[in-house]
Amino acid sequence: MAMTYPFSRRISHFVPPKQWASMRVAKELEKTTGRKIIHFEKGDYQGPDFDTPEHIIEATVKALKEGYVRYDPGPGLPELREAIAEEMTKRGRRTTPDEVIVTAGAKHALTMSLLTFLEDGDEVIFPNPGYPPDEVWAKYAGAIIKHTPLTKPDWQFDLEKLETLITPKTKLLIINTPQRPNGHLVENPEEIAEICLKHKNLMVISDEIFSHIVYDGKQHKTISAVPGMEERTIVIDTFSKTYAMTGWRIGWAVAPKPVIEKLSIFLQDTITNVAAFIQKAAYAAMTGPQDWVERKRQILQRKRDKMVEGLNSIPGIKCDKPAGAFYAFPDITGTGLTSQEFTNRLLENAGVAVVAGTAFGSQGEGYVRVTYAVPDEDIEEGIERIKNTNLKA
Ligand SMILES: Cc1ncc(COP(=O)(O)O)c(C=O)c1O
Repeated sequence: MAMTYPFSRRISHFVPPKQWASMRVAKELEKTTGRKIIHFEKGDYQGPDFDTPEHIIEATVKALKEGYVRYDPGPGLPELREAIAEEMTKRGRRTTPDEVIVTAGAKHALTMSLLTFLEDGDEVIFPNPGYPPDEVWAKYAGAIIKHTPLTKPDWQFDLEKLETLITPKTKLLIINTPQRPNGHLVENPEEIAEICLKHKNLMVISDEIFSHIVYDGKQHKTISAVPGMEERTIVIDTFSKTYAMTGWRIGWAVAPKPVIEKLSIFLQDTITNVAAFIQKAAYAAMTGPQDWVERKRQILQRKRDKMVEGLNSIPGIKCDKPAGAFYAFPDITGTGLTSQEFTNRLLENAGVAVVAGTAFGSQGEGYVRVTYAVPDEDIEEGIERIKNTNLKA
């Protein structure tokens, strides 16, 4: 008799991650047809421009040889927590090392934070469009998800709408800046903070994973630096994007000490610790030469311009220049296709993979997400292939 597995009701909403749907289909297509797919759908770096810097690799090998291979339960190596505290202090939030935890990527920090605060009936406010994995864990905890629409075309919080959504049951507001999927910065953290500060128990999770990928002389701003917000914000960042260490799985959170103490227990009871040799690599990344980070930022800005120009040369597509992250979020409504139809047609007919904007929320309808952290030749070929595809409804 076939076994019926007694899965927890809490995971009844589990489905394969929506934002990776195109990637799954693209990989399958590549395998079955052997066709070269242009991967504009990945949330990752591609190609030799973005190899992890050599000094970070060397520090990892050294750490392995020096024996950083044992359990080391706790919130992170002291020297790394200190370096992260310094970085956050520079960002405008005075931080001590005991307000830092090192995590297995930003996603791990987000998961732990959501599960540490939310329970049945609590409310949490997410931007729409936003980052879907956060919602998985809010639902797991039994929380009620409310979406606050970001206003087009510059994707800012609608402050009036935000205010109407907050009730005494609202525990968390999620912000991500520079934003994913649209690449725009949240321009007015001070005004959002003013609203938050009116509500005694409202905490903010500020996902700042693209903090070092900001263009055109603009500055990344953290809401945690607004007076009064340091005690109610969990800042989350990662080594994945700043140092092209996506596969290394290391990130961090900064929050008031009582919050870090709980997160540390959570971490110790789940993964024990982030591998110590990976923490040594992250320490080398933070304390080593930073010119590579700046060079990469400039390369990305140039690729952004190339991608945006290419997209705007295609009839039916309109794309603005986002000030951060490594995504463009073109408006494809001129083609008459929905986001999903556009995505499917592009993959099937042109072998170009993108992500439908709706994978990030209903407000993503009419848009697709396109990654430009790829080789220049792929941008050129991808644009050419899109131009030669019939995109009319
Ligand atoms: C908004 C956002 N938060 C968190 C993450 C996860 O980052 P990490 O690789 O550090 O887990 C991503 C990954 O792309 C992201 O886009």
